[in-house]
Amino acid sequence: MLNYKTVNKIYFSPSGTTEKIVNEVAKNFNLNRKNYDLLSFNDEKCFKDELVIIGVPVFNGRIPKTACERLSKMKAKNTKAIVILNYGNMEYGDALLELCDLLKANNFEIVGVATTVSQNSLFSELGRNRPDETDLKKIDEFSKSMAEKLEKNDIREIFVGGYKPYESYTTPDFSVVCDDDLCVECLDCAYTCPEEAIPEEMPQMTKMKDCTRCSTCISVCPEGARSFSGPNFELERQSAINDFLDRKDCEFFM
Ligand SMILES: Cc1cc2nc3c(=O)[nH]c(=O)nc-3n(C[C@H](O)[C@H](O)[C@H](O)COP(=O)(O)O)c2cc1C
Ligand code: SF4
Ligand code: SF4
Repeated sequence: MLNYKTVNKIYFSPSGTTEKIVNEVAKNFNLNRKNYDLLSFNDEKCFKDELVIIGVPVFNGRIPKTACERLSKMKAKNTKAIVILNYGNMEYGDALLELCDLLKANNFEIVGVATTVSQNSLFSELGRNRPDETDLKKIDEFSKSMAEKLEKNDIREIFVGGYKPYESYTTPDFSVVCDDDLCVECLDCAYTCPEEAIPEEMPQMTKMKDCTRCSTCISVCPEGARSFSGPNFELERQSAINDFLDRKDCEFFM
């Protein structure tokens, strides 16, 4: 019997794939579930004697600035963490080390780590339709092994490699645009933008100085009205297609 009542799912997932993978990992834990969606959850929280599954995507080789700020407010006492770093078939740079460093500094005990690959939320040609059946099967095996290990208390703390100082944090220098003809002013984008960068009185607009290019608004818009745009976007897209079409595999550490 697992010694926990609840599995806490904590995720920052602008285009939904990280949340999907966290849910897959949680599936084999026969426990109550509690969600902490970091697109909106921004409070102090301390987990005590608990189990958490934490999923974060990679933004330019780092973890998203907003995810980092919000996760920093989550502390732990005697709490075990399964960590998912999800990326778009390019590279994950220093993000795995950065995420594990942050969680360890807040006293989480990291007992399992997965680096997973999903369809790239910037350039959909990369990792298209992933996680696919092969990924989900491996994620299911990982989740089952983690549940078994936790039940038998057969766990060890995970240490990941990497370099410091981390590479510097950058925001892509292309824009997010909205097609006025498609927008029906439902305000889904304004309500879900984690940066409040879309004015409710004019949801066709984006305050680019506040926008982190996270992709939430593009993914939630029911009309497909929002998209990344601009000459730099096309250049980076072409270069990503040239360099990163080959399939990368998910990796698991436990
Ligand atoms: C601003 C931004 C930067 C990104 N940088 C990277 C990157 O450095 N490497 C990579 O493989 N994928 C990168 N991606 C793709 C995401 O990591 C990937 O699509 C991930 O699955 C998104 O998770 P989500 O569906 O939970 O939002 C980036 C995406 C965005 C929006
Ligand atoms: S406006 Fe920018 S920060 Fe807000 S959801 Fe869209 S991409 Fe993300
Ligand atoms: S989600 Fe799409 S349709 Fe709705 S207000 Fe935003 S841009 Fe317009």
